[in-house]
Amino acid sequence: MTDTADVGALPARGTPASDVLDEIRALRATDRPTHGGRLFAYVYDPGVAGLDELAQAAYAESAHVNGLDPTAFPSLLAMENALVGAAARLLGGGPGTSAPDVVGSVTSGGTESLLLAVKAARDARPDLTEPRIVAPASAHAAFAKAAHYLRVTLDTVPVDPVTLRPDVAAVAAAIRPETVLVVASAPSYAHGVVDPVTGIAAVAQAAGVRCHVDACFGGWALPWLRRLGAPVPPFDFAVPGVTSISVDLHKYAYAPKGVSVLLHRDPALRAPQFFAYADWPGYTMVNPVIASTRSGGPIAAAYATLRHLGEDGYLRLAAATRDAVAGLAGAVRATGGLRLMAEPDTTVVCFTSDDPGLDLFVLVDELTARGWHTQPQLTYADLPASVHLTVTAAVAPRVAEFGPALAEAVAAARAAGPVVLPPELLALAGSLTPEALTPELVAGLADGLGLAGGAGVPDRMAVVNTLLDSAPARLRERLLAEFVGMLQRPAW
Ligand SMILES: Cc1ncc(COP(=O)(O)O)c(C=O)c1O
Repeated sequence: MTDTADVGALPARGTPASDVLDEIRALRATDRPTHGGRLFAYVYDPGVAGLDELAQAAYAESAHVNGLDPTAFPSLLAMENALVGAAARLLGGGPGTSAPDVVGSVTSGGTESLLLAVKAARDARPDLTEPRIVAPASAHAAFAKAAHYLRVTLDTVPVDPVTLRPDVAAVAAAIRPETVLVVASAPSYAHGVVDPVTGIAAVAQAAGVRCHVDACFGGWALPWLRRLGAPVPPFDFAVPGVTSISVDLHKYAYAPKGVSVLLHRDPALRAPQFFAYADWPGYTMVNPVIASTRSGGPIAAAYATLRHLGEDGYLRLAAATRDAVAGLAGAVRATGGLRLMAEPDTTVVCFTSDDPGLDLFVLVDELTARGWHTQPQLTYADLPASVHLTVTAAVAPRVAEFGPALAEAVAAARAAGPVVLPPELLALAGSLTPEALTPELVAGLADGLGLAGGAGVPDRMAVVNTLLDSAPARLRERLLAEFVGMLQRPAW
């Protein structure tokens, strides 16, 4: 259990720089390891010597530059345009392609790119009072967030429990006169499968509706995998009907966090993304993205990363990732009781278990105890709980160690047996409804689960995950929101 609550940010007297850095390093020691190839979520590590130092130096160079006004800081505009051009070229746009007029913006991340794709689509149809978007159920939760923020209704189309993809006819059927945007993922985060983009874009186009391809996760991996010979289906601007694409540079472009690119097929499609306001006494505000003041740091760091790695570097990293994926998937196949959720065609390995004696949440804890940090995914509709591995190039040198660790963790999980929730906890959980949930109730529950005082997260999460898994989605949301609220308390 880690308690970081007693860190004060504003001491009465200033602290020497080296002490401050020591404090930060001590705090960082409580984190999951961002390097070393044993973390399968949150962090994208290429394992390239010197890249961190380069990105940090570039970040520092531009940290105080403000993206608020591109005329004041042309350096940032130049780097943004370079990033957009590179992303467009990689994703089937630019001179000599079927999408020569692609334009784009650099945003702070995938969520912002998706919010803006939805905003642009919504604001292109001011005639509609109740706009809607259509997305496969496997689309990233950021679309639900965008729908919530922008007061747009989200219509989800179920995914097939075997292919984990939506049926194109079902997508077509979900499109209504009020639909402003249809979504496809390339690939989905949870399972790493590429949706039938050609079919989805075609039905959107036939209905006169925009089609956004969420390639936030894999947009910087799929093109290299394709060049290496992988059978990547069409998903980019080469597909007629695709009107916008998002790709996160802080994922498989291996840039430090805070950079995504949102591309539109032409400037007219992008126009409603912008916000401009002159009706106040200050400067006229013109924002292509959500933030107004923006640090140049992430943009400079991404620019440096792309320039340094280059196409040959990304190809090399994609080959290492592809081999790591194959190795990890092989280890899963060789382990009794485990089953791959999908063929690992991209950079995700996702597995489940059909064996009632093998509790996946206990397995995740056993892997964590052995230094392998995987991501549990809860039961959803007719999809079972699963374990997600985002695979990056840094994993490659570790692959040989994974199989034995997985076998050991599986044996330990079997020996420990499935989680049995204490009856009093089950009774309490059973009585909870999202509406009736109070901070006190959640605090009591957290206490019972060993999450006392919201001080941190215990090393073993199987009981918590089992409890969450047994709760309907609305209750999970409320429970976790209350819990995070408990974690986020001021440190005096
Ligand atoms: C497919 C997809 N879209 C969107 C996002 C959201 O990106 P971010 O966390 O950068 O906001 C993610 C993040 O994993 C993703 O995988």
